[in-house]
Amino acid sequence: MSEPIKVLIVDDIASTLDNLQKLLSFEPDIQVVGTAMNGKQGIEQAQKLAPDLVLMDVNMPIMDGIQATETLAQEVPGSPVIIMSVQGERDYLRRAMQSGAREFLIKPFSGDELIASIRRVYQLEQKKESFLAKTAAGTEKAPAPPTDGETPRRGEHGQVFFFYSGKGGVGKSLVAANLAVSMANETKGKVALVDLDLQFGDIGVLLNLDHSQGITDLIENIDHMDPEFIREIMVDGPFGIKVLLPPISPELADLVTVDHVRRIFSELRKMFDYIIVDSSAHLGEINLEVLDHADRVVVVTSLSIPAIKNTKLALKIFDSLSIPPERVVLLLNKSDAHSEFNKESVEANLRFPIAGQIPNDPKLVINSINRGNPFVTTHPESEISQRIRELVAKLMPVVPAAAAPAAESAEKKPRKGLFARR
Ligand SMILES: Nc1ncnc2c1ncn2[C@@H]1O[C@H](COP(=O)(O)OP(=O)(O)O)[C@@H](O)[C@H]1O
Ligand SMILES: [Mg+2]
Repeated sequence: MSEPIKVLIVDDIASTLDNLQKLLSFEPDIQVVGTAMNGKQGIEQAQKLAPDLVLMDVNMPIMDGIQATETLAQEVPGSPVIIMSVQGERDYLRRAMQSGAREFLIKPFSGDELIASIRRVYQLEQKKESFLAKTAAGTEKAPAPPTDGETPRRGEHGQVFFFYSGKGGVGKSLVAANLAVSMANETKGKVALVDLDLQFGDIGVLLNLDHSQGITDLIENIDHMDPEFIREIMVDGPFGIKVLLPPISPELADLVTVDHVRRIFSELRKMFDYIIVDSSAHLGEINLEVLDHADRVVVVTSLSIPAIKNTKLALKIFDSLSIPPERVVLLLNKSDAHSEFNKESVEANLRFPIAGQIPNDPKLVINSINRGNPFVTTHPESEISQRIRELVAKLMPVVPAAAAPAAESAEKKPRKGLFARR
């Protein structure tokens, strides 16, 4: 086995130090190399021991954990910090993250949580180091050839497909995930799937992905972010799609700002042909930013009065934001021959054409969700998968992106600005 992860624990309560030490002693890949009882001592120990990772309490005499973390981030950058605190308030969390802490554990936490957190932070640090070493060693800024035998990118600017619904539960995440997989398979283009439902995103579960890293890891390194690092942070999904997952815990969602999202998307557009974005129903700044720049907005609705009511509201808002109707693709999910509504009645009510219908198939869908296998791969012949493929075709540009003039994006009218932002 390789070297164990060297951990320094900083906490002013002797019994806590003791318990943590005991707990970690059962893990063969983790070794506690030192302890300290205040921030100042913690810094001294870190300088001396160069641990792979520091577990840091917050409230301590002489120097508190936040201040110590700030100093460590500057002076011992190779020793990332996990903050342990009883205080879960948002402000606190923000300060802790701003101080340079990598993760935040709220006491009481379980041994499993702690160990998972240690391994996660350590692995990410390893990746970052090897990445930095590579760039320093002069693979340099030669236009990095695609590393994983990918087909070359077709155009300079990947297309963004933003999935939105004014109501949860209509199947937006399910359709977005299956569409992304199907798109990769059908077009052989490079496909990214971004879960912008930052608090309660489901993409990781729908595709059975290991959710140990996500957008938080990008924003922590936002100034050093480049395609190679982004690719490291994204998780591999079926048919070579790359998935950017949300923060691993809902309270971290607030750390993601519009500026972060703007910068991340600008990179993603250079890296991928198609970027599928799942979102939350909340029309806040971040959703509006992506909505504004999306090539297509796929509005998902279903055959229920609340869903239709909220779709109507959403379409009205898009209109007041000057989003051209040609950019909006209305999708009716869970359509059902036995419903009292049908396509025509929904279209009449919304005064908007429905571009596609996805049938209701509870049996296949539930199976697919429980196994974390997209139905487009397990049951490509089913009607629901066929409809998804049709949607892929509908979303494709008529001319390949490379040959097309930059017409669409250039045409976007400035928005009237319903919400005062910027
Ligand atoms: N076409 C469909 N047929 C049957 N059930 C569906 C279909 N689409 C979605 N569902 C069900 O609806 C639930 C909500 O889907 P989800 O994608 O999580 O919605 P949203 O992202 O809009 O909140 C899923 O758990 C699934 O059981
Ligand atoms: Mg969802």
